[in-house]
Amino acid sequence: MADNIAKLQVPGQEPVELPIKSGTAGHDVVDISTLGKSGYFTFDPGFMATASCESEITYIDGANGILLHRGYPIDQLATQSSYLEVCYLLLNGELPSQSQMQEFKTLVTYHTMVHEQLAQFYRGFRRDAHPMAILCGVVGALSAFYHDSLDVNDEHHRGVAAIRLISKMPTLAAMAYKYNLGQPFVYPRNDLSFAGNFLNMMFSVPCEEYVVNPVIERAMDRIFILHADHEQNASTSTVRLAGSSGANPFACISAGVASLWGPAHGGANEACLNMLEEIGSVDRIPEFIARAKDKNDPFRLMGFGHRVYKNFDPRATVMRETCHEVLAELNIQDPLLDVAMELERIALSDEYFIDKKLYPNVDFYSGIIMKAIGIPTSMFTVIFALSRTVGWVSHWQEMLSQPGHKIGRPRQLYTGAPQRDYVPGNQR
Ligand code: SDX
Repeated sequence: MADNIAKLQVPGQEPVELPIKSGTAGHDVVDISTLGKSGYFTFDPGFMATASCESEITYIDGANGILLHRGYPIDQLATQSSYLEVCYLLLNGELPSQSQMQEFKTLVTYHTMVHEQLAQFYRGFRRDAHPMAILCGVVGALSAFYHDSLDVNDEHHRGVAAIRLISKMPTLAAMAYKYNLGQPFVYPRNDLSFAGNFLNMMFSVPCEEYVVNPVIERAMDRIFILHADHEQNASTSTVRLAGSSGANPFACISAGVASLWGPAHGGANEACLNMLEEIGSVDRIPEFIARAKDKNDPFRLMGFGHRVYKNFDPRATVMRETCHEVLAELNIQDPLLDVAMELERIALSDEYFIDKKLYPNVDFYSGIIMKAIGIPTSMFTVIFALSRTVGWVSHWQEMLSQPGHKIGRPRQLYTGAPQRDYVPGNQR
């Protein structure tokens, strides 16, 4: 509902009147969808101040470190809920009853297997292929296997694609890890929890019984919850833009995997661990802090800073507690954690980071936990993608269910050559 009007004074014209819209929380927005009639577009590279859509799924208050999923604070969900229950919440808008939860869990459990023919796709990759490269490929390949529910304008078809993606991502992710190792793929097990099944597919071998450690199972589930969704981040916006053309849902999620891979986004957890290992010891931290401040040095402290959070990332707070729980449970004295803790202490007291509001983000601690669990650094973003699949499909469904949704097609400020005539090759 437009509450009031913004007036834009452009040269030589009467002021342009633009409706202002208010949401449940957060910034009001100026609806500029009719601005083009004035002969002007807006210009906002990186979408620093541009809302791309209306959404009911997640709300972030970056100044106050608030993250809500359908209104529920992330710290309450992370400590009291489960990943599958958060999946139900994100997809449906409400927490499930016990019978709804049981039905949803059964639905996901019985969709975790992948087509046997899909396993052949892995054989086309080198054994040392990055597992994110493999995941990009095999998630896209799912679009070649499911032709029975692809009318993206059909709510039931969208729901079937969503369940298939949420259920199969852990299987595909674990298969990428096993392929890297040269170990046999492990089939899903219906008697295990979502997190327990993933750990079993990752770490069990045919030669011996694998027993899921309940502390690690809980930590894994919490990592899944903390990465489930995060508003209109780069990868979610990628999925929305791809989906706006009516593209195959599996292909759209593959585009989201690709966008998440970047070190400025979901690839930061892998980059953060690589950075901690490069720093190596506490005494070398000042050298890297100086590099992070040097405008001529492209180096940045991976795991620090955020486009939206200009205060602490509430996920990092929960992740930090989980980090210490896991390391205590496994009795791990990880020198990298010493480096991480000292880096956090220095960065939070350094005026450069204070002035620029660069706090540790979710990726800073998740990498340390996953390393402690025995997950290789190259798999960190794969696990982020597995977790974020529910966020991607929830936004994809929301966009396609909104009446009058249009294909996304941004405009530009053209600064190229003015029109000119072709010059034949023998005259150049
Ligand atoms: C995720 O969007 C999401 O919600 C993402 C995510 C999700 O759940 O989907 O939360 C997941 O991607 C978390 C972020 C993970 N990325 C990293 O940890 C990589 C390191 N961080 C930076 O690359 C950076 O902070 C970004 C990309 C996260 C945010 O960058 P912005 O908002 O574009 O801000 P900016 O690059 O303009 O930086 C502002 C200033 C700059 O200095 P000035 O030009 O003003 O002098 O802060 C500096 C930057 O140089 N800066 C850093 C820094 N991050 C920003 N300096 C040193 N180290 C850093 N990490």
